[in-house]
Amino acid sequence: MIKNICLDDYDISPLLGLLSPEPPCTRLSAQCYGLWEALVCEVTALLLHKTFRSRVHQLPVLSSSALATRREYQRAFHILALLAHAYVWGLEGEKVMQVLPKALSLPWLEISAYLGMRPVSTHAAMALWNWRKVKPSLSVSRNSITTLELTRGGVDESWFFLVAVGVEAAGGPALAALVSAIECTARRDSSSLATHLTQIAVHVRQMSAVLDRMREHCDPYVFYKYIRRHLSGWNDRKVFPRGLIYEGDDGRIRQAEKDEIRWVKLTFGEDDQRDYTSSNAALPSSETSASAEDLVEGARYGGASAAQSSLLSALDIGLGVRHYQHAQNPDLPRRPSIFLREMQWHMPKLHRQLLYDLERGPAVHAFVDELPRDASPDRAADGVHPCVRAYNAALHCIEDFRSRHLQIVETYIIEPARAAAAAEAAAVEKRSKGEAEQDMHAYGTGGAGHLISFLQDYHLCDVWKRMYTRLCASNTVRFQHTQLISKDQVCQLAICSNIIAVRQF
Ligand code: HEM
Repeated sequence: MIKNICLDDYDISPLLGLLSPEPPCTRLSAQCYGLWEALVCEVTALLLHKTFRSRVHQLPVLSSSALATRREYQRAFHILALLAHAYVWGLEGEKVMQVLPKALSLPWLEISAYLGMRPVSTHAAMALWNWRKVKPSLSVSRNSITTLELTRGGVDESWFFLVAVGVEAAGGPALAALVSAIECTARRDSSSLATHLTQIAVHVRQMSAVLDRMREHCDPYVFYKYIRRHLSGWNDRKVFPRGLIYEGDDGRIRQAEKDEIRWVKLTFGEDDQRDYTSSNAALPSSETSASAEDLVEGARYGGASAAQSSLLSALDIGLGVRHYQHAQNPDLPRRPSIFLREMQWHMPKLHRQLLYDLERGPAVHAFVDELPRDASPDRAADGVHPCVRAYNAALHCIEDFRSRHLQIVETYIIEPARAAAAAEAAAVEKRSKGEAEQDMHAYGTGGAGHLISFLQDYHLCDVWKRMYTRLCASNTVRFQHTQLISKDQVCQLAICSNIIAVRQF
């Protein structure tokens, strides 16, 4: 059991969470990297002039050995992610490249190995390591920061990432509160626990307020049509039949993942239902070492998504929120979701390590669940223990964040996808509208298909059920099963048919 979690050890700040207290590195110090720095500044212009790819072909193969600090590694990862995605995807109408040349792939593989994450654009690369203060004296908030580099450029793209950074800044202190809550659990100190749980709720509410500001300057059409393109990875088998080939790949990232899976299984036991072998992963089939076939087969990594932030995942784990796969048949036992597990490979290793350690820490929800109800000396007049109340408030705020996020997904992906499908159906007479709608590209950048049902699965969990059941006694909340969804309503933001909906009365 891990008793003391010190956030510094995970490169996490008590105030800003996953954002480093000092802004990200803005320029690599070694002169040789001037070539990368020059290219990343010009991406948009070169893409427009269709000369970007030829400029990449002229790059020499540099090693990562001249990178001086962890912050420099992070900046190098950010630069190479941006260059690689611009190279692979190009602009609309251009062919999608299937091979990443050595000048990008070799240093990126080295840097990814150092940071312990997959070589593909990630939330860390595009949000956590992609901002600077407008004035050094200002504190970090949405109004005082701007992005470092973008692919297409423009207000919409910049705002998209700034909101993601803003959500991290707003939620950052929740991680420190979570650690304190876990410490209280270890000490069985219920009165302080309530305070820290309340703090978590406060910060998650602030995250929601920031998320809501996405609509201010990020136009849904621009996001759907343009921004999404360069965030996408290489997990679509139709576009990348062999995955993306990283020239010169020696299989070290895959091997590192296999080694880590082995460690995880040793640590958590073989029977913890952890399953990393999703269709996205290009893990070698051999258990011992990467075979020759593995090395020529490319990687199928999903692209950048805030699902790769360990902030909400940490809160989920710390508070005992579990996620399940969307079940076609509600009568069958539900299987744990593998999507967020998969997303952990796209986090810097230190952030992933925090999640492992939280899983091994004292369970806050179990302690809250055990608290005496009637005999509690500090229970409130309505009979609800302050810890239960604070715990439920924190979960409510997380649910609210996810509800608002669903609305964002509706606005930024589902509606534009529906409009695009309708336009396509109108243009192509032969195809029926129904077929076109089935075809609509309502996928997420991280690789989630069937978006609404997928994201709704992140809404509710067994712990909520348990805690709400306790509150039911005070007649404030009750459960309701709903059967709202039909084939035609697949885009409707109603509560999905096979999950339990919490309704407040
Ligand atoms: C226009 C803005 C956004 C859109 C369209 C969007 C879309 C999506 C989509 C499609 C997914 C499913 C996973 C995938 O395939 O990528 C997802 C997951 C997720 N997104 Fe976003 N997202 C947006 C902004 C944000 C922001 C700013 C945050 C917070 C920093 C965030 C947090 C999450 C989380 C935590 C998940 C994992 C699912 C969950 O835990 O509920 N998203 N998002």
